[in-house]
Amino acid sequence: MAIHVDEAHQLFHLQTATTSYIFQVLANGQLGQLYYGSQVHVRPEYANLTKRELKNSMPAYALDQPTYQLDAIKQEYAAFGTGDYHRPAYQVTQTNGSRITDFIYDHYEVKQGKQRLTGFPSTFDDSGDDVETLVIYLHDEVTKLEIALNYTVFPNQDVIVRSATFLNHGTDAVTLNSALSGQLDLPDADYDMVQFSGGWARERHLIRTHLRSGIQAIDSVRGSSSPQQNPFMMLARPETTEDAGGVFGFNLVYSGNFLDQVEVDHYDTTRVLVGINPETFAWQLMPDKSFQTPECVFSYTANGMNQLSQQLATFYSEHLVNSQYVKKERPILVNNWEATYFDFDEEKLLKIVRKAKELGIEMFVLDDGWFGHRDDDHTSLGDWFVDHSKLPNGIGDFAGKVHHLGLQFGLWFEPEMISIDSELYRTHPEWVIHAPDRRMTPGRNQYVLDFSRQEVVDYLYDMMSKVMADTKLDYVKWDMNRYITELFSCSLPVDQQLELPHRYILGVYQLYERLTKAFPDVLFESCASGGGRFDLWMMYYAPQAWTSDDTDAVERIKIQYGTSYGYPQSMMGAHVSVSPNEQIGRYTPLETRANVAFFGAFGYELDISKLSVADSATIQHQVAFYKAHRSVFQFGKLYRITSPFEKDHNVMSWIAVDETKSHAIAVRYQILNRPNAPYLRLKLKGLDPDKQYRVNEGQRTYYGDELMNAGLFLDHNFDGTAGSRKDADFSSRLFLVDEV
Ligand code: DGJ
Repeated sequence: MAIHVDEAHQLFHLQTATTSYIFQVLANGQLGQLYYGSQVHVRPEYANLTKRELKNSMPAYALDQPTYQLDAIKQEYAAFGTGDYHRPAYQVTQTNGSRITDFIYDHYEVKQGKQRLTGFPSTFDDSGDDVETLVIYLHDEVTKLEIALNYTVFPNQDVIVRSATFLNHGTDAVTLNSALSGQLDLPDADYDMVQFSGGWARERHLIRTHLRSGIQAIDSVRGSSSPQQNPFMMLARPETTEDAGGVFGFNLVYSGNFLDQVEVDHYDTTRVLVGINPETFAWQLMPDKSFQTPECVFSYTANGMNQLSQQLATFYSEHLVNSQYVKKERPILVNNWEATYFDFDEEKLLKIVRKAKELGIEMFVLDDGWFGHRDDDHTSLGDWFVDHSKLPNGIGDFAGKVHHLGLQFGLWFEPEMISIDSELYRTHPEWVIHAPDRRMTPGRNQYVLDFSRQEVVDYLYDMMSKVMADTKLDYVKWDMNRYITELFSCSLPVDQQLELPHRYILGVYQLYERLTKAFPDVLFESCASGGGRFDLWMMYYAPQAWTSDDTDAVERIKIQYGTSYGYPQSMMGAHVSVSPNEQIGRYTPLETRANVAFFGAFGYELDISKLSVADSATIQHQVAFYKAHRSVFQFGKLYRITSPFEKDHNVMSWIAVDETKSHAIAVRYQILNRPNAPYLRLKLKGLDPDKQYRVNEGQRTYYGDELMNAGLFLDHNFDGTAGSRKDADFSSRLFLVDEV
């Protein structure tokens, strides 16, 4: 049993395999948070956790209850304006302009399992994984509003998923000014906030800072989760490492404007809020209508960040990702973007396809430029019909040729965008998100379609589904190359304009939902100029995402390492591209480029029809190697060993281990070489201490405990023989570890 309720004390104890989450109905009927952390015994009450002392100069709830001071009480879903001065979890404006509410506990319900939410992506339990859901109903007497706080406990992955549902049982409309998904009040502030920040081409770099008094937040107001800040965040004790120590993880199942906020008050208590960013949000809630927040994922472990990443990865594969793809090995693809950009014709593409076949590659992806008259990025977005000057016999015919040559076929779309130079714009200029009588701000020479309009979603569905059927498509790359500006919808009334960001992302959801239902076997990869929408909402439909437009192996080391904290490696699209690299001009060995890209959904993105004989042979070998070890690379349990965000940022290493601990692959990347370097030992992780292993098919065998505790001695030569080439800059070494 995951949910324990003590009726007499109105106390709720949610237990996972190793954690406890406890809260209680307070004397005034509000909900007080008591504890979240390592598991504690179930008891009827926790007198020790409910103790309070009088804090001077703080409002009290009532004259006869001087120590009942909301500002000093940890809460579950806090209101504003009745004595608690922290930022609230929600705000509701009523017809008289008041924002004061008083939500009181009404009743609760426990349900087995977890249904999907209707209306957008959510976690689920299809497998009977001992999952239970608790719903707490709160009621505001004046407005007749109800809030249902939903808690689903996933005991086997140490995850609790929260969301809130607002229902208007009153006779007046109200406006939700904020409606966050989850709140966590913690009793102290001795935590480091770990966030994953960056920008285009340098996404999800790890930043760790100690909490300080006041508000610290990461968020997005761009209309997408963004490459600048990822919605995944951790709070770790200062002493917490990869392998030990307490750490909380928070993520939001959402792709729009989000807020992850941490507030430390004057008593060093901490409030975490996660949800839709109130900055660009409001929602008119009419009588008898409801508003459902997206879900947020809470997880805790006492055993370090690596454990947190692993339990989250397992959780997503069992309870979020389309089950069809969970363990399905992803095809090795070649994408023509960096090979040709817009400059291609059928013959050029077919040369790549034929070469791909020869190399053992499994899928050809035709990127941007196949439609309208798109010879550069100024035109044709929205016109999803083939450019006959490039593919004279149509897209279906071309797809047929790719299939005939024995490869799967994938295609690029950017459904949410429109170019001024397009038939779509000439017909429907009002479909662009723009403010009347104001100039429109371009981004990559293009504009954003108003996905809050049903007719826009319908148009895209018709266009895309025709192409998908015509091509018998195997894969869609769904791009999104700019953010929203001039936030205004011609189809929304005055008082609902701030609903646009959320309505927009609901429109995107609807298109994904309809396409994935109509084409259940098509693999979707999400992309937003690379990793601008690397989030859980996308993961629900698109089990893989283009991790970054930066394909340079050295940059990717940090990007993929940072990404691994919140997302599994099977989600990370990773390609080998040309050297010098197109984004950063760096020269790196082909071997290192592959050794980096192997730890993800692997592919190539260069003109393979022009390879030298030597590179061709190398790539053929890489493809065969990846196929032989693909399940470990994509689905093995990942253990981070050396961080590129620590020390001199020069080395990264990690290891992926299969379920039975009989096969593992470790890698060590070194950015710059050092003269007369110190001795090197690579301490592996995740092996069975009692099993014996060979490394790289060598003669010697080692016990797992030796490899993990003493480490593998590495010399500074590539192949270990005296006089061979020394480890150079941008080098990498893979270690196949096999049980004897
Ligand atoms: C941005 C993507 O991240 C690239 O991979 C490529 O698809 C281009 N867009 C095409 O315009």
